Amino acid sequence: MPLNHLPADFVWGASTASYQIEGATKEDGRGPSVWDTFTARPGVIRDGHTGDVACDHYHRYEEDLALMAEAGLTGYRFSIAWPRVQATGKGEVNPKGLDFYDRLVDGLLARGVEPFPTLFHWDLPQGLEDDGGWLNRDTAHRFAEYAALMAARLGDRVKHWITLNEPFIHMVWGYGLGTHAPGRALMTDCLPVAHHQLLGHGLALRELREHGLQVMIANNCTPVWPASQSPADLAAAEAYDNLHNRLFTDPLFTGAYPDLSAYGVDATLGGSVRDGDLDLISAPLDALGVNYYNPTRIQAPTAEGLPFEEAPIEGYRRTAFDWPVVPDGLRELLVLLKDRYPALPPVYITENGCSVNDVVTEDGTVPDHDRIDYLDTHLRAVDAAVAQGVDVRGYFTWTLMDNFEWAEGFHQRFGLVHVDHDTQVRTPKDSFAWYRDLIKAHRAKAQRT
Ligand code: FCB
Repeated sequence: MPLNHLPADFVWGASTASYQIEGATKEDGRGPSVWDTFTARPGVIRDGHTGDVACDHYHRYEEDLALMAEAGLTGYRFSIAWPRVQATGKGEVNPKGLDFYDRLVDGLLARGVEPFPTLFHWDLPQGLEDDGGWLNRDTAHRFAEYAALMAARLGDRVKHWITLNEPFIHMVWGYGLGTHAPGRALMTDCLPVAHHQLLGHGLALRELREHGLQVMIANNCTPVWPASQSPADLAAAEAYDNLHNRLFTDPLFTGAYPDLSAYGVDATLGGSVRDGDLDLISAPLDALGVNYYNPTRIQAPTAEGLPFEEAPIEGYRRTAFDWPVVPDGLRELLVLLKDRYPALPPVYITENGCSVNDVVTEDGTVPDHDRIDYLDTHLRAVDAAVAQGVDVRGYFTWTLMDNFEWAEGFHQRFGLVHVDHDTQVRTPKDSFAWYRDLIKAHRAKAQRT
């Protein structure tokens, strides 16, 4: 496959997140997270699944490291469970939690895999949620303390750090609609959560810089397609773009929030922005992490309430999750980011992948050709974006192995590796071998030239 524009040292990776894979939620001093509390509520997760055991990665990480080595990954994006290293999110540090990430990092480095930890992938310590969670400005300060302690422990070996995962999804699903933890349904009153997460990012960035480390944030980004060129649809699309994309990138790269007046909110986001906050938030980043799944088509609202309405995207194949497969949307998005922000730093694709109804066949294989096609076409889209001048340094597919997919429980399989959730048996899928061969070929070519 010709991916001629990707740089020789392009990082080939896979992503995971602590709550989705680790399990061992009550072991070795880990405190409860909002996801433990949320999944214990009846009716919120499909079939009542929880991450109590997940992929049991906490105990099986050696096996998982071996899989990464076999795939030839050169990067691994994982997240640190904050309540594993600080049970209540403040004060006392849990040495056993720190030891786990220490072993994981050493295991990665021993196999030539560069670690890319994310400090927050949604599993906030319940102790902080009890004080208001991300609605409380103080959480941003606690986050910076936690970032500092992780940098002190791992910063001698870990160069690349990701502060937050998808602050947009966490705000909307967790605090706006309540379909994710912590399960608050505040609608537009959730907007201070955007600012407090970004403030946490800015404060953590300052701590990580003290240790000379490289910092990025992983944002969920989507190209917004207006359903028509009518002024009403265009206005709705702009309002949606401001909420989903610009709310989390404008402050980073321009030092200001976008216009949110369509949501009845002024530039202080409900009075939460204070002097100096935006200076912290807009401190230069080493890279932007882009999580891409699909574009979003938006039309004018047909009912009272929000200033937009989502419209279906027709004419594309769909994943098992019913998400449209639009590879060129990734190229479109990357070029848009470059055009929109003169200060855009290099980009890593920190998540991209698809859910497939994978089964292990009688001969023990998992023929996931839809996933191979998905990854192939999206990587070509990345290559095309690089050809158009976007500086993309790496690609982390979502995800290494089938895992706990939030409100969907174990029903969506996104992995390169099939996991039997009863036995924990891992079976590499055909896409695993495909990715391994691609990485090998790209690296061999890079060495020749
Ligand atoms: C993203 C999340 C990730 C995973 C994928 C499918 O929004 O960051 O944890 O659930 O979606």
